[in-house]
Amino acid sequence: MHFDICVVGGLGHVGLPLSMAFAAKGLKVCAFDISQSALKTVREGRLPFVEYDAADTLKKVLADGTLVCSDSDETISAADTVILITGTPVDAHLSPEFEALLQVFQAYERRLRDGQLIILRSTVYPGTTRRLQDFLSERGHKVDIAFCPERIAEGYALRELVTLPHIVSGATPAAAERAAKLFSILNPEIVRLEPLEAEMAKLFTNVYRYIKFAIANQFFTVANDAGLDFYKILHAIKHKYPRAADLPAPGFAAGPCLYKDTIQLSAYNNHTFFLGHASLLVNEGLPHYIVNRLRKQHDLQHKTVGILGMAFKADVDDPRDSLAYKLRKILAFETAHVLCCDVYIKDPSFVSTEELIRRSDIIIVGTPHKEYRQLQIEGKVVVDVWNIFGKGCQI
Ligand SMILES: NC(=O)c1ccc[n+]([C@@H]2O[C@H](COP(=O)([O-])OP(=O)(O)OC[C@H]3O[C@@H](n4cnc5c(N)ncnc54)[C@H](O)[C@@H]3O)[C@@H](O)[C@H]2O)c1
Repeated sequence: MHFDICVVGGLGHVGLPLSMAFAAKGLKVCAFDISQSALKTVREGRLPFVEYDAADTLKKVLADGTLVCSDSDETISAADTVILITGTPVDAHLSPEFEALLQVFQAYERRLRDGQLIILRSTVYPGTTRRLQDFLSERGHKVDIAFCPERIAEGYALRELVTLPHIVSGATPAAAERAAKLFSILNPEIVRLEPLEAEMAKLFTNVYRYIKFAIANQFFTVANDAGLDFYKILHAIKHKYPRAADLPAPGFAAGPCLYKDTIQLSAYNNHTFFLGHASLLVNEGLPHYIVNRLRKQHDLQHKTVGILGMAFKADVDDPRDSLAYKLRKILAFETAHVLCCDVYIKDPSFVSTEELIRRSDIIIVGTPHKEYRQLQIEGKVVVDVWNIFGKGCQI
């Protein structure tokens, strides 16, 4: 058994597309993962989550034998390169849990072989690559360590892995060189940084997006409090005005990356990251703001409220850290009844779109899935903070 690459966490949202992308280029890849449900699904030739343009590629790389899935950590020893892409959570004290990554290395340390290239692909707390390098070299491992952050938009990874430049850094020049050679197979455009720079580049990328969403959300509440429809103003600002082209629309900004990476950067900056904190308050406060506004206009205790869409963003089935769930919690306290639906997420507690529309007095668009854009909703109060119905949003 020999692999060019073993991807640890190889069946996750980042790991699986990355494994497939390398396998599609003809490399022999093992997606090593402990998730039995994902293993079963992928071995059957199905994707465990929504990933666009990936179904045919998955079937092909499995049939070609360039992609193999395994739950055996022996596959780590069998690879020239090990790419680690497990989760990097933050804890209840708003601190990154870097032990999570270290624990993965401790668990599989005995499987490492001298001469391997170890690539960190998870989004990490700045300094993690250096710590890992020290950890492994103190324990006598002669491996090359690189950090090459993932920058794809979830759901569109297979497209973006071969079109986005790859940021590559190494603990040593030799490690950087090996990692650059590998990622140039996906896209020859490589941007070299030092590990600390690359770690920050990834966090800055995500936090920049998070702050932009916060600006839009804050503008929305300011305009709404003044009795105005922010979408009318937004249109005016952006119309043929290139300097405002990247001002996003308001909406529930959360998900598995933006929130936690803002916290990671804040923790790194001694929790004095004012813009990041302000953005957290604005973005996390949006569900509260909406419910407060509704409470002023409706007797919520006697109303059924429906949340149309629960995923953290449009057209995917990922519920992780979605603000629609926070909204559900708030509404459960404030209203007679809360109904939820999502065209992508299977959850026995959800109702169908039709039932939600029929039974709800008030409908809040939780996720702007494309399937909802054509819905005709008559005779109900609709809160469409994303403006998927094109009628603006005033609460
Ligand atoms: N989701 C995104 O769009 C995205 C984009 C860029 C970066 N990232 C970063 O990538 C990392 C992973 O995110 P994700 O969304 O892919 O997470 P995920 O939960 O979808 O995937 C992680 C995978 O690792 C597996 N795993 C966990 N522990 C393991 C272990 N000990 N051994 C083997 N496998 C193990 C899990 O079963 C899971 O399949 C995070 O650091 C995240 O911040 C995510």
